[in-house]
Amino acid sequence: MSAEGLQITGLELEINGKEIIQGIDISLQPGKITGLAGESGSGKSMTGLAILGLLPEGSRTKGQIQFAGKNLLKNSEKEQNKLRGNKIAMVFQDPTASLHPMLTIGRQLTDHLRAHTGIGKKAALEKAVETLRLVQVPDPKTAIKKYPHQFSGGQLQRVAIAIAIICEPEILIADEPTTALDVTVQAGVLRLLKQLAEKLSLAVLLVTHDLGVMSSLAETIYVMRQGQIVESGPRYEVLRRPQHAYTRALVEALPNHEPFLAGAVAATATEVITVKQLSAGERGN
Ligand SMILES: Nc1ncnc2c1ncn2[C@@H]1O[C@H](COP(=O)(O)OP(=O)(O)O)[C@@H](O)[C@H]1O
Ligand SMILES: [Mg+2]
Repeated sequence: MSAEGLQITGLELEINGKEIIQGIDISLQPGKITGLAGESGSGKSMTGLAILGLLPEGSRTKGQIQFAGKNLLKNSEKEQNKLRGNKIAMVFQDPTASLHPMLTIGRQLTDHLRAHTGIGKKAALEKAVETLRLVQVPDPKTAIKKYPHQFSGGQLQRVAIAIAIICEPEILIADEPTTALDVTVQAGVLRLLKQLAEKLSLAVLLVTHDLGVMSSLAETIYVMRQGQIVESGPRYEVLRRPQHAYTRALVEALPNHEPFLAGAVAATATEVITVKQLSAGERGN
């Protein structure tokens, strides 16, 4: 597996003549979660879609998205189709959108895997079970025979994550992956993403409008506003010492921002990590 991750430099996007992204730089590292936060409409999803080569009609881009020695923005549709779902995977807000309601999840996992690799049916089924185990879906051997409607929202997002990772991608774009889920299961799905990033050396771009969601997960945070990165750096720096009024407002909107600004990071509603728990190196200067 490449140890290079993905680098966005000077990305600009115009859709039908309207400026949407105005020259952003973002770097994704293997094994790490990189957070992209910002208010609705700031261009977060478009950034993810640019990486996936799924921009809407009328889009024009400039700059570079470097992955595996190539600028993805220069890829043909065919080259991009080959990467998408394979080396570069995605998870969206609504897991049902990426699943077929009438097919068992075993079939969907194996179809997806077989579309991208030459693997045989039996081996594909074994890999499907193994991948469901990896995303901690209970009783994977029974689960592969079930249909999407037989799973809860949280379990279904785990299934969608299984489809995303079954081809062993290097990059995972997770766009608001827990926004549609019950609060009680959100933290579990986020923890899973963190574990998978580390275990599989995945470079994850976690897109969210919620800075709280990423404060316990992302080593590096980028804050986007109106198509620009207004702030970026190690989470400790960004959250503890927000430079911009906009980022400060985001931090202050965190439910537990006061203890955070005083020395503790408010993570999800159920998790609070203190600054002491962050590594010394991360503290920097
Ligand atoms: N299909 C589209 N055609 C033209 N403009 C779009 C389209 N989808 C989104 N936009 C615009 O692109 C901007 C960024 O949107 P988006 O990346 O979805 O924001 P975010 O994910 O941060 O909420 C918004 O101004 C939005 O109106
Ligand atoms: Mg979005």
